[in-house]
Amino acid sequence: MCGIVGLVGRDAAAPRLLEALRRLEYRGYDSAGIATLVDGHVERRRAEGKLINLGTELARKPLAGTTGIGHTRWATHGAPTERNAHPHGTARVSVVHNGIIENYAELRAELEGQGIQFETETDTETVARLLDHHLAQGASPEEAVAATLKRLQGAFGLAMIFAGHPTKLIAARQGSPLAVGFGEGEMYVGSDALALSPMTRRIAYLEEGDWAILSDVGVEFFDAQDQPVQREVKLTAYSGAAVGKGNYRHFMEKELHEHPIVLGDTLRQHIDPASRAVALPPLPFDPAVVPKITLSACGSAFLAAQVGRYWMEQVARIPVDSDVASELRYRDPPLPEGGAALLVSQSGETADTLAVLRLLKQRRQHVLSVVNVAESTMDRESHGTLLTIAGPEIGVASTKAFTAQLAVLATMALGFGRSRGVLSVQEEARLTAALLEVPAHAATLLEHTEEVQALARQVAMAKDVLFLGRGSLYPIALEGALKLKELSYIHAEGYAAGEMKHGPIALIDQDVPVIALCPSGPLFEKTASNLQEAAARGGRVMAFTDQEGASSLRRFAEAVVVLPTVDPFVAPILHAIPVQMLAYHVAVLKGTDVDQPRNLAKAVTVE
Ligand code: F6R
Repeated sequence: MCGIVGLVGRDAAAPRLLEALRRLEYRGYDSAGIATLVDGHVERRRAEGKLINLGTELARKPLAGTTGIGHTRWATHGAPTERNAHPHGTARVSVVHNGIIENYAELRAELEGQGIQFETETDTETVARLLDHHLAQGASPEEAVAATLKRLQGAFGLAMIFAGHPTKLIAARQGSPLAVGFGEGEMYVGSDALALSPMTRRIAYLEEGDWAILSDVGVEFFDAQDQPVQREVKLTAYSGAAVGKGNYRHFMEKELHEHPIVLGDTLRQHIDPASRAVALPPLPFDPAVVPKITLSACGSAFLAAQVGRYWMEQVARIPVDSDVASELRYRDPPLPEGGAALLVSQSGETADTLAVLRLLKQRRQHVLSVVNVAESTMDRESHGTLLTIAGPEIGVASTKAFTAQLAVLATMALGFGRSRGVLSVQEEARLTAALLEVPAHAATLLEHTEEVQALARQVAMAKDVLFLGRGSLYPIALEGALKLKELSYIHAEGYAAGEMKHGPIALIDQDVPVIALCPSGPLFEKTASNLQEAAARGGRVMAFTDQEGASSLRRFAEAVVVLPTVDPFVAPILHAIPVQMLAYHVAVLKGTDVDQPRNLAKAVTVE
């Protein structure tokens, strides 16, 4: 949610800041801006809309200076206009901010009461005005920052530069991630290590409440009590290679095609292909005796967790509670002594999920996270982490990270089942074999896009779409609806197939496509009956199934897409791919912004 970057460098800062912002644009694309220090003065360029507009503005009016800050915005306070675009500031100071200053209204009223005038509607300007107020009274940048930080409530990552201090940049973190990068006679700061990767792989992370002074000779870290502290420098795995689309039209299309490799890499981490046994790394709890697992996440990651819940209940017989993080954090559920928490997140930075992580740690639960970004805040703060090996996911709508999450959760459920003695060696080997075949099936699926495209042509004309599934396919129905909504702006709902007759069936008519996820297996007949109920009322049923299910569904369905036949245990992973493909093709047909859908951002670091 908003990307920030800054550097104290030796060469022109603006082009490097722009390149770093390109890698952060997934965090927001409402506006962008850069400020640098030119002959001791702050100068800035800003533009409404995507980063490309800022690029055009910079080409028209280049910006000199070797120290600077940059921002790509996901609007929270104030419309996404150029006036509200970061950096914000005065002649003395310039600020970029990620997060929300919760007490900004109170601070603004206080400053306005002293005759200070504001130019924007943003919460960020309060930070700039407070800093300016201290600087005007003769405070040094360090003193102004220390005094200002003590007044701020909420979540923020900040980068600030000061007129008259050409080789100084101050960064601060409370709740929003910030990475400090080390160069040769240069220092950098950014919302993540990926943004800094063309410049350096040597990274230190600010801890909660930390602030740091960057200069051309290095960095000094301070904790929330303004005491000097050391922060460990690590090498990130990111290479500086450009994150490109290759020959694909969109990042999402490229990422869809990465499913086979990502699934293979993720599965092979914890399954020994020779013995077909699951080998999990040491975990922060003993699955054999854990009384309960609390599962939580947001958005698509939560839907992956929901599939995980079905698996853990079915094959490991573990009691599982699950809820979206924004609810769980305020629900105060009773939690057993020695219970486990399992959190799922691509970015490892999502504010609500992170809040649940911290809450459940306080409640003495053993926290295990499934994250895609090593060294993310969740990775660092959890008692244990299992990584998905999905690589950087640039398309805002999650694709390969989602199926990689499923792969980890499936493996984990099997490992837990063995530890608890409820899954035999033979059964484990049969199910791991089924899992290891998924990457090849995914590759086959991706080669046959015509049927999904044909379906997409029908769906693109609809105003409302229903997705139905049962059991572990129910969360995939929800995921299908979520993907379609976010990419094509078509209203879609996911339902448990058996729930349709309790209300949504009233929506059924010839204009509402009913997309069914209906593989053969123990629940096939039940779902097929629900679909027939829809067809009997004029509903247009379009089904994803396998060879065995196809013939009976063809009797009443308008379209049937036949997927490879797999064990029902792995069917949710395989069905997730065509629903993502469907949303992609509908979005392409409708001409929406596939990689950066309106109003969205990746890594939602505000509550
Ligand atoms: C939807 C999507 C979002 C994310 C959600 C959680 O396609 O990508 O719903 O799944 O914002 O993000 P992470 O996984 O980073 O915690």
